[in-house]
Amino acid sequence: MTTRPFTVALDGPAASGKGTIGRAVAAHFGFAYLDTGLLYRAVGARMREGMDPVRAAETLTAQVLDDPALRTAEAGQAASKVAAMPSVRTALRDFQRAFARRAGGAVLDGRDIGTVICPQAEAKIFVTASAEARATRRHKDLVEQGEDLSYRDVLADIEARDERDTSRSDSPLREAEGALRLDTTEMSIEDAVAAATRTVEARLHQT
Ligand code: C5P
Repeated sequence: MTTRPFTVALDGPAASGKGTIGRAVAAHFGFAYLDTGLLYRAVGARMREGMDPVRAAETLTAQVLDDPALRTAEAGQAASKVAAMPSVRTALRDFQRAFARRAGGAVLDGRDIGTVICPQAEAKIFVTASAEARATRRHKDLVEQGEDLSYRDVLADIEARDERDTSRSDSPLREAEGALRLDTTEMSIEDAVAAATRTVEARLHQT
C-alpha cells in the first residue's frame, strides 16, 4: 500500500500475459488497475456501430468497459485500427494520465504506457512471448468464451495486430527504456507474477 502516486507501466503485445500480471500485481499492492486496451476496444466497437471514433473516445464512460463483447477477436482488430489514429490517442491520453497519478498507486497495461502515457512511471515492465505461445493462450481463452475460431485464425489475428501496433507512427509498441523485460514464452504465469512483484517491491523502497 502507498498513499502517494506510484505508477506501474506494463506494456507488451497482444496476449503476452500482461493483463494477468497486471491484475495480480495490483491486487498484491492494493493498487488500482486499468486495462487500457479496453478503451481502444470500446472506441472500435462504437466506430463499428457508425459513431465517429474521436467522438466515441471523448464520450467514453466507465460502464461501457464492462461489456463482454469487447473481449472478442473482432473487437481487438477494430481496436488496433482506431488505435492508429492520433486524434483518438490524444482524446484518451488525459484520462489515462490522471488514472496513472491517482493517490494510492496504479497499474496500467497497454502498449505505450511506459513510453508515452507515463514515461516517469516508477516501475516499468515489458511483457512479451513468441507469437505462437500467445496465439495458443488466446485461442484457449476465446474457445472458453464460446468463440468458434481456429488456432490459425488466432495466430493470423495476433500477427496482424502486432504488425499494426509496431508500425504505426503515433505511439508504436516499443519497450520503454529501463523496463524489466519478461519473456513469458517458457515462463509460468506464477513466475512472471513473482518477477513483476519483486521489481515493483524494489521500486517502492527506492522511490
Ligand atoms: O491489449 P488489447 O489487446 O486489449 O488491446 C487492443 C488493441 O488496442 C491493441 O491491439 C492496440 O492496437 C490498442 N492499444 C493501444 N494502446 C494501448 C492499449 C491498446 O494502441 N495502450
